[in-house]
Amino acid sequence: MTGPQMERTLIIIKPDAVQRNLLGEIVHRFERKGLKIEGLKMTRLDDQILDEHYAHHKDKTFFESLKKSMKSSPVIVAVLSGINAVQACRVIVGPTYGVEAGAGSIRGDFSMSIQANLVHASDSKKTADEEIKRFFKSEELFEYIRIDFEHVYGEEDRSP
Ligand code: CMP
Repeated sequence: MTGPQMERTLIIIKPDAVQRNLLGEIVHRFERKGLKIEGLKMTRLDDQILDEHYAHHKDKTFFESLKKSMKSSPVIVAVLSGINAVQACRVIVGPTYGVEAGAGSIRGDFSMSIQANLVHASDSKKTADEEIKRFFKSEELFEYIRIDFEHVYGEEDRSP
């Protein structure tokens, strides 16, 4: 990663998105926005990683149901980078409840549910750093220059 405010964030494309054949659509949206894919893999989540990932929800009534849904099929985990990538991805994904999410966001366009909301996106830079370590080994992440960098960002964005 180079330059100020360059961030990495973690995305999980959840089992409901896998089952509904939305993988390509979802990856495409992040790619088109200008986010760089630095890591991407299919994996199956188990109780150990979900207990850690959703520790802040462990006392919620939906915790067991959430874990069951996250284990119901493989997921895609991805690391995306860009200037202010955490915020950019949260906007693309939309608010938790699909019905309340604005049209144009992934959840707004494809989700009718609060649990089956298709994608998880890190909620802060600090959380993103923790989540990336949780799901990726350093050798699974790739740094490279995307040839459209100078067109995705203006000169001011690149050197504030
Ligand atoms: P996510 O962004 O992965 O973070 C926590 C997840 O818990 C959330 O998306 C939803 O999938 C799920 N979730 C949040 N609130 C509820 C709820 N009230 N009932 C069921 N699942 C929920």
